[in-house]
Amino acid sequence: MTDQNRAKVTIDSEFKIGEIDNRLYGSFIEHLGRAVYGGIYELDHPTSTEQGFRQDVLDLVRELQVPIVRYPGGNMVSAYNWEDGVGPIAERPKKLELAWRVIEPNYVGTNEFADWAKLANTEVMMAVNLGTRGIDAARNLLEYCNHPGGSYWSDLRKSHGYKDPHSIKTWCLGNEMDGPWQVGHKTADEYGRLALETAKAMRLVDPTIELVACGSSNANMPTFPEWEATILDHTYEEVDYLSLHQYYGNRSGDSANYLAKTLEMDQFIKTVVATCDYIKAKKRSKKTMFLSFDEWNVWFHSNQADQEIEPWGIAPPQLEDVYTFEDALLVGSILMTLVRHADRVKMACMAQLVNVIAPIMTETGGRAWKQTIFYPYMHVSVFGRGTSLQPVVSSPKYDSKDFTDIPYLDSAVVWNEENEELTVFLLNRHLNEPLDVSIDVRSFSSYQLNEHIVLENNDLKAVNTVQHEAVRPHSNGGASLDEGMIHAQLPKASWHVIRLGAKRS
Ligand code: AHR
Repeated sequence: MTDQNRAKVTIDSEFKIGEIDNRLYGSFIEHLGRAVYGGIYELDHPTSTEQGFRQDVLDLVRELQVPIVRYPGGNMVSAYNWEDGVGPIAERPKKLELAWRVIEPNYVGTNEFADWAKLANTEVMMAVNLGTRGIDAARNLLEYCNHPGGSYWSDLRKSHGYKDPHSIKTWCLGNEMDGPWQVGHKTADEYGRLALETAKAMRLVDPTIELVACGSSNANMPTFPEWEATILDHTYEEVDYLSLHQYYGNRSGDSANYLAKTLEMDQFIKTVVATCDYIKAKKRSKKTMFLSFDEWNVWFHSNQADQEIEPWGIAPPQLEDVYTFEDALLVGSILMTLVRHADRVKMACMAQLVNVIAPIMTETGGRAWKQTIFYPYMHVSVFGRGTSLQPVVSSPKYDSKDFTDIPYLDSAVVWNEENEELTVFLLNRHLNEPLDVSIDVRSFSSYQLNEHIVLENNDLKAVNTVQHEAVRPHSNGGASLDEGMIHAQLPKASWHVIRLGAKRS
């Protein structure tokens, strides 16, 4: 074993980054492809509830413990009339859905999604249309959802069978309004003004809500980060979060470079934080702006196939990426990056949840199954609740096409003081060699090692299918704890969850 294969981590209960908001492990369901129709909803599926929700999908969503789900889009929301999706289903219009060029039958709308969210044990993050519509539609939707009664829109909700308000707390002011592909695309000043005025009206309807303004669609947009500065110049005191979106891919087949893409994500977050703090200083504000990384994932496998889909179908198989083992490793690294920024990134959404660039896939009329990326997402969502601790890491490094000084070891640490649990997440980025890791946990002397979960595979391109789960974790990692030091051997290209808890007497 050379120094190139050894890494050291020091963890201390005093090295606190910040409290993790559970909404950091959110996800996203858009009216797109088979996410809704054939995904969460399939009226005649053998497992479906009376309302048409697939119980097999609900079971997998609950296994992920998804705290919040963004809805109904995405690009789709920018030309969506929410009124089309409420009231008697038989009377709802079928509309041309312009973002994805499909027919939207409106069998599922606001009320059905709120029902589904309850069954899935999750909260709704609702987006309003600031593309083709504006203040009026947004404040009416909020009144419909959250006002107890005695007004036109809240009474309409009641007449639709929903006596109690949905009490939706988190609202997105549009979606990717900087993108020329967006229906109703706006300049930064146009969107900034509209977001401000919509926020003010919405807060008058319900002052308890939290609002997310649109940041850039990704860090490569020519207007990034000027867009963020302008939007915040308009909205700083009226919104609570600024959004970030980013998708990753390995188009060139360069895995060493691909697994380093979270260095870019880290820089993206730092730049947005700096921009928020610049506007805070400029405005002499006491308020700190938080971030909502409400679209992230790997998205590239399905790009070609999507070109061949004919327009105006109902729920065609759009964006159905089949994920590899290496995608799961990157997803683990993305989640660790979010955890290490838990002081400022309070919400984040894996985009998306079912069938569309998703951890959960379904066969129409058949089974629901887990993609490779299901596992790191489940691990961090389930075991990553508490306080994010700063690991002090010394790791050998490598260079790749786009990055230099990439640590082979990537890590994040979460301490749940109340439950007396410490979880260490680790990734060995080395594609050919194991990494020998020592972890100093002397500040947790009353803890014992409970489990070492590993996701490994000899084939970086291994995928899961409905018939065969080639990529699944095991709990035989073999880490040991002796005198406050954990020792673990991380096989080449592998993902790890090391779980400690209070010693049992
Ligand atoms: O998640 C797929 C799409 O990606 C969303 O609709 C849009 O917001 C983003 O560009």
